[in-house]
Amino acid sequence: MITIRNVSKAFGRVQAVQDVSLEIARGEFFSLLGASGSGKTTLLRMIAGFEGVSAGQIFIDGQEMQDTPPHRRPINMVFQSYAIFPHLNVRDNIAYGLRRLGMPRAEQDRQVEEMLELIALPGYGARKASQLSGGQMQRVALARALILKPKVLLLDEPLGALDKQLREQMQLELRGLQRRLGITFVLVTHDQEEAFTLSDRVAVMAQGAVVQVDSPAGLYDRPRNRQVAAFVGNMNFFEARMAGDGRTGMAEIAGLGMQAVNSGSARRSEGERVVAAIRPEGLGIVIAPDGQAPAVAGRIVARQYLGGRQILHVAIEGRDAPVAVAAPARPGEDDWAGAEGQAVWLTWRPQAISILDAE
Ligand SMILES: Nc1ncnc2c1ncn2[C@@H]1O[C@H](COP(=O)(O)OP(=O)(O)OP(=O)(O)O)[C@@H](O)[C@H]1O
Ligand SMILES: [Mg+2]
Repeated sequence: MITIRNVSKAFGRVQAVQDVSLEIARGEFFSLLGASGSGKTTLLRMIAGFEGVSAGQIFIDGQEMQDTPPHRRPINMVFQSYAIFPHLNVRDNIAYGLRRLGMPRAEQDRQVEEMLELIALPGYGARKASQLSGGQMQRVALARALILKPKVLLLDEPLGALDKQLREQMQLELRGLQRRLGITFVLVTHDQEEAFTLSDRVAVMAQGAVVQVDSPAGLYDRPRNRQVAAFVGNMNFFEARMAGDGRTGMAEIAGLGMQAVNSGSARRSEGERVVAAIRPEGLGIVIAPDGQAPAVAGRIVARQYLGGRQILHVAIEGRDAPVAVAAPARPGEDDWAGAEGQAVWLTWRPQAISILDAE
């Protein structure tokens, strides 16, 4: 549905987007995920046509868009600020685009009613927009964009202003809506959980470039480098060096010693400096090692209680920063208490350690 080919954008000396190429499929829910200033909004605005490209091409539904102004592109955009008219009622807000098309009133009304059902606000047509809650306003903004039946809907942090609970509820609604309508959605967010909840695929952006494109599970399990790994969930990083000829799947890891690792598909050479990465949930804590699983001795130095689970920070020899370990918040009776200062052993499955480029 969308092809982005070697697109760059410079604002004076600021390179906001740098040689980005992407293919977004018809009916796909696609997200651009990245830290503030990584170029997400700029890329979205170029797709919408609000911003011209400095180099490269954008195709939507097979058509090159260079000379097509925003209002002629088969897209609509929802902004972070609700951008609905407070003085108009809900019906007139939603019908806004249809009225401009000169559609007969009866047909407008029918389509607005359909939209009100879709956004779960039936009977709200006569309500003033200023009398809605934030989440309701956001749904009206969505309806206003969707009523024109765009082939593509672009969303720039559409849930950014909502509180956590409403945000999570709206995420599920947005996903359901997209599934029912089959419209291609491109969402901009800096919230990893939001991108993962909603998307079929996610492009991770940094410094104007796309670092990795994959499914949420693919990004989480096979991050290309340290930058992606750190951005999608928590990760412990260790300095490491590949052992043997690099194909043995062994590495010398600071603090953990010589260990079997998941070296991925990249070619490695003997003695190559790499980063070993292991997620907090890839590690376990025991009072005494069983002699089977690999283990190193350590001491709990801090405990982060998070409700159903906790993160224990364990200091080990040969590594400055403590290692973060995820554990259930109420371990079984014969388990450890998880108290600060307690001597413990860290264990893990060999395949839990991933090898990444050191950069
Ligand atoms: N009109 C502009 N003029 C000059 N520089 C700009 C302009 N718009 C964006 N930039 C710069 O381009 C870079 C990318 O900005 P962009 O708004 O695309 O980031 P973003 O990923 O959307 O960030 P955020 O998550 O904070 O919204 C930033 O360095 C920004 O300062
Ligand atoms: Mg932005």
